[in-house]
Amino acid sequence: MSSHFDVIIIGAGASGLYCALTAGRRGRRVLVLDHANKAGKKILISGGGRCNFTNYFVEPEHFIGANQHFCKSALSRYPSWEFIGMVERHKIPYHEREHGQLFCDDSAQDILTMLLNECAAVGVQVRLNTQIDSVQALENDKKSRFQLLTSRVLSKKDKQEQKDAPKQTKPVQSGFRCESLVVATGGLSIPTMGASGLGYELAQQFGHQLNPIDASLVPFTFTDKTGELIRALAGISLPVIASNERISFRLPLLFTHRGLSGPAMLQLSNYWQTGETISINLLPDTDMTQLLLDHKNSHSRQLIRTVLADYTDSALPKKLLVALQTTLWDDIKDKELANIKDERLIELGTTLNGWLLKPSGTEGYRTAEVTRGGVKTDEVSSKTMQSNYQEGLYFIGEVLDVTGWLGGYNFQWAWASGFVCGEVV
Ligand code: FDA
Repeated sequence: MSSHFDVIIIGAGASGLYCALTAGRRGRRVLVLDHANKAGKKILISGGGRCNFTNYFVEPEHFIGANQHFCKSALSRYPSWEFIGMVERHKIPYHEREHGQLFCDDSAQDILTMLLNECAAVGVQVRLNTQIDSVQALENDKKSRFQLLTSRVLSKKDKQEQKDAPKQTKPVQSGFRCESLVVATGGLSIPTMGASGLGYELAQQFGHQLNPIDASLVPFTFTDKTGELIRALAGISLPVIASNERISFRLPLLFTHRGLSGPAMLQLSNYWQTGETISINLLPDTDMTQLLLDHKNSHSRQLIRTVLADYTDSALPKKLLVALQTTLWDDIKDKELANIKDERLIELGTTLNGWLLKPSGTEGYRTAEVTRGGVKTDEVSSKTMQSNYQEGLYFIGEVLDVTGWLGGYNFQWAWASGFVCGEVV
């Protein structure tokens, strides 16, 4: 015997909860299923525990995906001030940080509590610890287009009991039917937070194609000599312009024990393909080539290391300058400018304004904030998020091939796609 709901949403994360409360407000009977033991785990860890829940300046340019136009409709129908309005109605204190990013003053828990309270107020049921065993489309019954079989995710205690008495504890399956099925399972980032590939599998089951997925908004790693240099500088942070052939970001860079991180690197990772070189302008406010050539004319007897130490004093941490010097221009560091060829000074200036590095990879899904790629958006309605192939089936949030920049854009996509879907399911 199956329980019947108007709408079943798989995934009690950001997009799933927003879709649920929107549909619930329309009087729909909504059930949200999640295999995790807690709803909204990623919301809780986001923004360093303060949840960068949206951004004042949301434009389609802040999103990547094979179809650049797909996100436009939902983002314009659900602008960030809609979510800000809800946050204010719930009296959640928040503040703006640089680039229009909005964070909770106190805790990300405030956002999750708000979403769960809104869901509860309109009768949305949330069932956790629920494993989805199968999803099947049923023919000829508009009210019950889908049947789901689920079982309870076993706790440690259950597993032990099953071990001790294998015959007595059979997993009990439950059946659910629904008119609309929403896949809100997110991406693969941070498996310990409940991430799984179920959304991609369901998409394929119903004939959808996937654009290649990869970890994104993620630090870079390095294995060669550069890796050693970077690791030795762990802890240093400075503002840079990080770029590749397609895009540039003027943001802080952070050296870590594993590689390069900080907002500049995370943003660039959205646009990085394996094997590509990245460029880091360590002194974005100074044309170092011009400075060195001018200095050669005016103070030709000065040692290059003195010039660099003087001119980079406030802009470049001393430890970084020394490390770069040892690696990149050790042979000329004690020479007077007059004795260094212009070509070498140009090479040095160019390096400081565009240090070329080839990451060996990224830290991967273990630490990535998002998964880029996913369900092909050409096969989903941008107005409703409904599948082009299966009536009543919807995809929202990160499972789709829509990835935002760092700065609250991924949550804004989750709310907006959840909203437009919740309006029609
Ligand atoms: P989300 O991941 O939120 O939810 C998916 C849900 O589906 C989860 O509850 C999961 O348990 C469930 N699920 C998965 N597989 C299942 C299965 N097989 N069966 C049942 N349920 C299943 N963004 C931003 O805008 N601002 C920020 O500050 C941050 N910070 C941040 C920090 C960190 C550390 C991470 C990892 C990510 C961020 N993000 C972020 C990104 C943001 O968290 C993310 O883009 C959204 O949560 C995506 O919302 P979704 O609803 O698509 O997936």
